[in-house]
Amino acid sequence: MQILTSTAELREVLALQRLGGRSIGLVPTMGNLHSGHLKLVDSAVKQCDFVVSTIFVNPLQFGPNEDLEAYPRSLRDDQEKLISAACSCLFVPAEEELFGPERKDTTIISVPEMSEIYCGKSRPGHFDGVATIVCKLFNIVQPDKAFFGYKDYQQLLLIRRMTQDLSFDIEIVGIETARNASGLALSSRNSYLDREELATAAMLYHCLASAADAIINGSRDYLKLEKTATQKLSDAGFVVDYFSICNAENLVAASHQDRSLVILAAAILGSCRLIDNVQLQVDVQSIERQVN
Ligand code: PAF
Repeated sequence: MQILTSTAELREVLALQRLGGRSIGLVPTMGNLHSGHLKLVDSAVKQCDFVVSTIFVNPLQFGPNEDLEAYPRSLRDDQEKLISAACSCLFVPAEEELFGPERKDTTIISVPEMSEIYCGKSRPGHFDGVATIVCKLFNIVQPDKAFFGYKDYQQLLLIRRMTQDLSFDIEIVGIETARNASGLALSSRNSYLDREELATAAMLYHCLASAADAIINGSRDYLKLEKTATQKLSDAGFVVDYFSICNAENLVAASHQDRSLVILAAAILGSCRLIDNVQLQVDVQSIERQVN
């Protein structure tokens, strides 16, 4: 696996790959890789000839009181995992390589609406930071396909919308959420949970799954389902930011006409902000929950 820190060198390597007619896959990450990230790399390796993973803890997507400094960094381990996953190239730029000496003056990409709801509401500027860095990586790598997890469902929709609005010729591939044995979605931030919190954290997924099951079994009182889940989580010690049953395409509160739904949740447990979601199809004839 090639490890590069310079944009110019990466562009040279990629130009040669393109000359050879090889397709390019991109897996952007902030490092501290877990099996969820490796699932993205694995899919990229299966679908593309040359896979670039990036590790960059992007300061633009952290608020002033968030965990930028504490965010777990484990470059050596990450490199080994990527080599085992048959990744072709790792791009690890320094902040100055991407932003020059004056990051504060950089151009910002802002995706309307999607960047302001749910996590965007609680984390102002977060999605502008995500859209800006992903846009830069798309311009640098110019991949045929880019891989993102369904775990960050709102992020995935935002990136799809940006790709369409800015006419990137890139296929955005969504990959299933990886979970531990208790159902907790894998996340680099799970390392903030102590042993007791780790045991409680899986409740977030179980509340999502039981709301989905209730819908599958015919319940249509979405507000009541949201309230019940929020109460259950609060009783267990979570500070719930949102628990919302939404239209899966635009994240507007679900109506009874909607067939593709996603239930989104964000909640804080101890010092850890957890997000998760479950997608489901509501069909008059058959109703099923997608594995996600
Ligand atoms: O999902 C993440 O890890 C980050 O938001 C991303 C897409 C790598 C942008 O920094």
